[in-house]
Amino acid sequence: MKINLANIKKAQKLLNKRECIAIPTETVYGLAGNAYSDIACKKIFKIKKRPKNNPLIIHYYNQKNLLKDCNLNDNFMKLYKNLCPGPITFILDLKKRSKISRIATNKKKTLAVRFPKHPVTRQLLKRLNFPLAAPSANPSSRISAVCSTDIIDDFGKKIKFILEGGKSKIGVESTIIDVREKPKILRLGGLEISKIEKILKKKIIISNNPSKISAPGQLRVHYSPGLPIRLNVRNSKNDEAYLLIKKRKKNKSNFYFLSKKGDLVEAAKNLYSVLREIRKSKYKSIAVEQIPNKGLGKTINDRLIRASKF
Ligand code: TXA
Ligand code: MG
Repeated sequence: MKINLANIKKAQKLLNKRECIAIPTETVYGLAGNAYSDIACKKIFKIKKRPKNNPLIIHYYNQKNLLKDCNLNDNFMKLYKNLCPGPITFILDLKKRSKISRIATNKKKTLAVRFPKHPVTRQLLKRLNFPLAAPSANPSSRISAVCSTDIIDDFGKKIKFILEGGKSKIGVESTIIDVREKPKILRLGGLEISKIEKILKKKIIISNNPSKISAPGQLRVHYSPGLPIRLNVRNSKNDEAYLLIKKRKKNKSNFYFLSKKGDLVEAAKNLYSVLREIRKSKYKSIAVEQIPNKGLGKTINDRLIRASKF
C-alpha cells in the first residue's frame, strides 16, 4: 500500500497534543495515545469504556526505545530477533524510572509491549519521541476493528482521526507471552505457538484459562458480536446464520464461510469481518460448525468461546 506522509504527519500532530487516534496494525486497529501522558491514556479508557483495571499494550518502534522502560532478558531477545516486528506482545518487568503512565499500567509493575509490523504505523512510531499505548479500537468487550469502516461503525465521530492502513493482514490480536520467568502464553493470538516453541526450543505453557488468568482483559466476556452464538453445530436452523470454516459444495443463503478452502490463517483474517457482516444481516443468532483446534484454529476457537458467553 502507498504510504501517505501527510496523514502520518497529521497523526503525529494530534498525538503530540495528547489526543487519541486510531492506527492500523497488522493484527487489528488500535486506539492510540502517548503512553507517557496520563491525559492521553485517560482519554483511551474513556472512549473505549474500558475498565480501569485492564492495562494497555505499549507499542514501540524498536528494542532500543524500550530500554528506557523495561528490563530485557534472553528469552525476550531471542523472540525479538526472530519475530519482531510482528504479532507478539511481551510481558516484561517495568523499570522503576520508566515514564510510562500509571493510568496505562493500572500501577502494575509489569508492562505489555509490542512492535507492530504495519508500515504506516512503523513510520509513525519512528517519528514520535514517545511510545504509543494502544488497546484494540473497539468498545470494551466487543470484537476488534480490522478496517477503518469498522471503527466508524462503532464510534462515529468520537475518534478524532483514523490513520488509514487498509484491512489488517492478520485479523486477530497479537499473541501475549509472559517472558519474565518460565515463558507462558497469556492470550492466544495471531502468532502460532509452534513458532515460539521452535525459537525457544521448548514446549510453552498456555495459561489462558479464564479462571486463573493474569491478563485481566481475559476474565470477562470478550469479543462479542452482540448476538448469541452456539458452537460445534452440525446442522444449523434456517433462521440463524451458520458460520463455516470452508465453502461447501451446496451453500444455503444463511451460510457464511471463513475461508474458501478451510485455510486457518485466512479464516482468522476473516473472522471479525464475517461476524460484523452477520451482525448487520437479518439473523439474530449464530451457529458455528466445529473449527479444527490446531494452529490459528486455536485462536479462532478461543475468540468464539469467549464470544459465546454473551
Ligand atoms: O494485536 C494487539 O495486541 C492489539 C493491537 C492494537 O496492538 N491490541 C490489543 O490490545 O489487543 P487490548 O487492550 O485489546 O488487549 C490487551 C491485553 C488485555 O487482555 C490486557 O489485560 C493485557 O493485554 N495486558 C496488558 N498489560 C498487561 C500486563 N502487564 N500483564 C498481563 N496482561 C496485560
Ligand atoms: Mg481488545
